[in-house]
Amino acid sequence: MPDSARDLRTRLAESGRRIDAAVNTANLPVHRASTVLFDTLAQAEAAGQAVGRGERHATTYGTAGTPTTMALMDALAEIEGGGHAVRAALMPSGLAAITTVLLAVLGPGDHLLVTDSAYGPTRVFCDGLLARLGVRTTYYDPTVGAGIAALIRPETKLIWLESPGSYTFEVQDVPAICAAARERGVLTMIDNTWASPVFARPFDWGVDVSMLALTKYWGGHSDVLMGAVVVREALWPQVWVATRQLGQCVGGDDAFLVLRGLRTAEVRMRRHHENALEVAHWLQRREEVEAVLHPALPSHPQHALWRRDFSGASGLFSFSLEPSLFAPTRAYAALAALCEHRRHFRIGYSWGGFESLVMPAGIAHLRSVRPWTGGPLVRVHVGLEDPRALIADLQDGFEAMQHALAS
Ligand SMILES: Cc1ncc(COP(=O)(O)O)c(C=O)c1O
Repeated sequence: MPDSARDLRTRLAESGRRIDAAVNTANLPVHRASTVLFDTLAQAEAAGQAVGRGERHATTYGTAGTPTTMALMDALAEIEGGGHAVRAALMPSGLAAITTVLLAVLGPGDHLLVTDSAYGPTRVFCDGLLARLGVRTTYYDPTVGAGIAALIRPETKLIWLESPGSYTFEVQDVPAICAAARERGVLTMIDNTWASPVFARPFDWGVDVSMLALTKYWGGHSDVLMGAVVVREALWPQVWVATRQLGQCVGGDDAFLVLRGLRTAEVRMRRHHENALEVAHWLQRREEVEAVLHPALPSHPQHALWRRDFSGASGLFSFSLEPSLFAPTRAYAALAALCEHRRHFRIGYSWGGFESLVMPAGIAHLRSVRPWTGGPLVRVHVGLEDPRALIADLQDGFEAMQHALAS
C-alpha cells in the first residue's frame, strides 16, 4: 500500500481532533459522542465506577452523558428542582420518561394509584406491560384530594398525579395528596408537562418525582422529542440504574435544541397563557359551546386550587360542544368541518410548540372513574399567533360546522 494512502486514512481518523479553541461562545458547542476517550486505564476505570454510582458529570460513553447532555441535566435539576436537592435524567421522549420511572420504582406485587385523568399512554402502559409484570393499578378520581388516604393499601408503592389532567383539565390538590402519601410512606410522581417549571413548583408541593415531556414547551418549536425525570436525591440511584439498564439516552443535537428552547420558555409561555385565555373567553360566549375546560377561567370547578398553586396557564385546553346540536350520525362530519381546512389551527396530536393545533378528543376508553358525560370534546393548543386571527379561524370553523349539521 503506498504511504500516501496510509497517510490519508490516518489523517481522516486523526485530523482536527485536538483543537483547544480559546473562543468563548454564548452557547455550548454540540457534543455528538458515542466514544469517550481516556489517557490512562486508571482514569477509564475510575470513570466507570463514578458512572455506576451515578455521580454528576461522570461518563464513560455517550449513553452515560456528554457535555451537552450534562448541561441540560444540570439546567433541569436547577430549574425544575427550584432549590430542592434533585437530580435529572434525560429520556428519548416524554413517554419514555414515564415508563422508565415506573419501571425503576415498581415491582411484582406492588400497587399503583393513577389519576383517572392521566395522559392516555400512561394508562396504556399501566394496564399493559406493568400489569404483565405483576403491578396492580387502581385509577382514582382526580379531585379526590386528601381522600386519597382511603385508597392507599399496605402494598401501595406510588401515586401518579397529573395536574391539570389530560383532555379534561381537572386540577388536583397535589399538596394534600402528597401529605397523605408521605404519612404512609408512599411515593408521589407528577406529570408536570402542562405547567412546566414556569408555572408550577411540584417539589414545593411535596412530590418525590416530576416528569416533563420536554417535547412540548421546553423544546417549544415542534422539532424535537425528549423527556426528563427529575427526582429527589434519595431516589436517584434507583432511577439512574433503571435508566442505564434500559439504555435510555439522548443525542447532543436534541439536547442542544432543548437547551436553546428553554432560554425563551418563560416569555413564550406567558404569551401562550394570554392568547389561550383570550380564545377561551371567546369560546365561552359561543352558543355551540357547552363548556370551556380551562383552569384559569373562574367557571372551572377547581379554579380556586389553580389560583392557589399555579402562577399561570399554558396554551392547552379543551371545550365541549353543545350535545343538543349533535345527531349522532352527523357528529363526525360536524367535527371534521370544525377542524379541517382552517387557516391557522392545524390538526395534530402534539402541543407545546409555537403553533396552534386542534383535535377532537374521544376519551371514553381513557376514563373509568369519572366517565366524560358532556358533549363532544375538542382540544386546542393556542400558539403564539395573533389571537384575533385564531378567533376568526374558529369562527369560520363553527360556521362550517353549523353548515354540516344543517345539510
Ligand atoms: C401530558 C403529557 N405527558 C407526556 C406526554 C408524552 O410526551 P412525548 O410525546 O414526548 O412522548 C404527552 C404527549 O402528548 C403529554 O400530553
